[in-house]
Amino acid sequence: MIGDARSDVRVTITGLGAYAPERVITNDELAQMVDTSDEWIVERTGIRERRIAADSQALSDLSLPAVRQALEQAGSDGTDVDLLIVATVTPDMMFPSTSALLADQLGATDAAAYDLSAGCTGFMYALAQAYGMVASGLSRRALVVGGDVLSRILDWSDRSTVVLFGDGAGAVVLEPSEEAGFLAFELGADGGGGEHLWLPGSGSRKFDDPDRLVKMNGREVFKFATRVLVSSAEAVLERCDVSVEDVDVYVPHQANVRIIDHATKKLGIPSERVVINVDRYGNTSSGSIPLALADAQADDRLRPGKLVLMTGMGAGLTWGSALMRWTEG
Ligand code: UT7
Repeated sequence: MIGDARSDVRVTITGLGAYAPERVITNDELAQMVDTSDEWIVERTGIRERRIAADSQALSDLSLPAVRQALEQAGSDGTDVDLLIVATVTPDMMFPSTSALLADQLGATDAAAYDLSAGCTGFMYALAQAYGMVASGLSRRALVVGGDVLSRILDWSDRSTVVLFGDGAGAVVLEPSEEAGFLAFELGADGGGGEHLWLPGSGSRKFDDPDRLVKMNGREVFKFATRVLVSSAEAVLERCDVSVEDVDVYVPHQANVRIIDHATKKLGIPSERVVINVDRYGNTSSGSIPLALADAQADDRLRPGKLVLMTGMGAGLTWGSALMRWTEG
């Protein structure tokens, strides 16, 4: 699916927030649990540490501080949010949805609220949906949360996955705007590659003795990731007739520094325009892009007028890009 912003109603991000749990797990700590080393993890992934949720913290607990921060920036107390989408593969529980729980905590009594599952690309899918609802006039103030507590579904004896992931959440507020904001989206899925990153026993399909823990074929996902980060970004840029030199801030899914470097070089984006925080958080799945956006904002890189390119990829297999002109809010 690809489309540019043709609607009369322009839509932008008016608030942004992020939260990661306090507990830090370093590579050296992981090396005490599985057969790995700080050297291997840094060389193959660029990750140095990640945050892990406390036993008492579910996704809604990680999301709420991010949501409150985003709402404060948008000048809202949350009661006027009319759409709340949580992108995740680790909701508090299958139902009630985490979004319904959050809407209740905010007092957003008029909000449509639902969770969305598109692997690590979930935030990009949710962003596109919220964009569409605001652009059509169906929503006036939408809240999009991307977050995961992947530590709950990892096999802590599998060195090929535990070293990669971390927990975290981010949130953005979308509203109609005088200025441009979102320019285009490109989203896609290839279920044929689904077997390379999957969670057997997590749904209605029966398995003999499922352990309900993440299984991944890292090499296949690596190949897929390096391909789609480039093709999706190129598609959205071409759709807007924008050259890669015009991109001021590139926010790729934070999975692995080697994947990001590969995409950056292939696309021809100078490294100083790339946002990277995977070294500090690992891959936080749906939390990855909003956490990186929040870091870029904290570093004063998201100034009005800047052209921002975001691309996510993940389980499904799925991918998605958005191009936007950052606005005053
Ligand atoms: O949101 C999407 C989520 N998934 C991803 O982004 C994953 C994408 N894939 C990757 O990032 C990389 O494929 C990995 C980081 C997972 C693996 O890096 P790699 O360079 O592709 O390594 P590899 O799978 O080819 O494994 C090389 C060796 C193997 O040993 P042998 O067979 O050569 O003896 C692995 O068993 O490294 C071994 N290995 C490890 N060694 C130390 C795998 N994991 C580890 C580890 N520590 N944690």
